[in-house]
Amino acid sequence: MISVNVRVKKCKKSDLPECLPIFIKEFSENPYNEKWNKKLALKKLEEHFSGKNKYCFVAKENEKLIGFAFARTFQWHDGRNGFIEEIVVEKHYQGKGIGTKLYAKAESGMKKKENIRRVWLITEPSSRAWKFHERNNFKKTPWILANKKM
Ligand SMILES: CC(C)(COP(=O)(O)OP(=O)(O)OC[C@H]1O[C@@H](n2cnc3c(N)ncnc32)[C@H](O)[C@@H]1OP(=O)(O)O)[C@@H](O)C(=O)NCCC(=O)NCCS
Repeated sequence: MISVNVRVKKCKKSDLPECLPIFIKEFSENPYNEKWNKKLALKKLEEHFSGKNKYCFVAKENEKLIGFAFARTFQWHDGRNGFIEEIVVEKHYQGKGIGTKLYAKAESGMKKKENIRRVWLITEPSSRAWKFHERNNFKKTPWILANKKM
């Protein structure tokens, strides 16, 4: 279970460099196999961080950053909705309730401030992350996530 020394706090811009190694490592592995470098990963995280309607949190054990969740809200026909942009926990700390705590903080922030109706996310169906999201009561949608290569 979660250590007493783990705290979830609002993310500051100065936290972003510490998010990078966790982000790059976790998404370099199966089933993602993404090839991020520090420069590109920083650009991506900065993009989320500087966006509108953002809810960004970090988990820290003492002063060490061990995970983060970045979310934002957007307008939908039923009201404001939330979107989970990123949620990642450093390997050695996974399975201890930290992701759940990060997710809960993002969700409650969006609910409290903007009374969101629903939360959306994109995930990989064969990943352990999908199990995590199912445990947080996410259901599959009939939408297709599509892209076109250039
Ligand atoms: C998905 C992730 C954020 C979950 O955070 P976490 O702190 O490990 O999750 P919690 O401890 O709060 O919840 C545990 C539950 O999540 C699931 N889970 C997902 N990944 C897990 C892992 N590596 N270890 C243990 N449980 C994991 C399990 O269903 C587990 O429930 P169980 O103990 O009943 O089996 C984290 O595992 C992670 O960073 N994974 C790699 C990056 C990733 O896939 N991000 C999400 C992209 S959409």
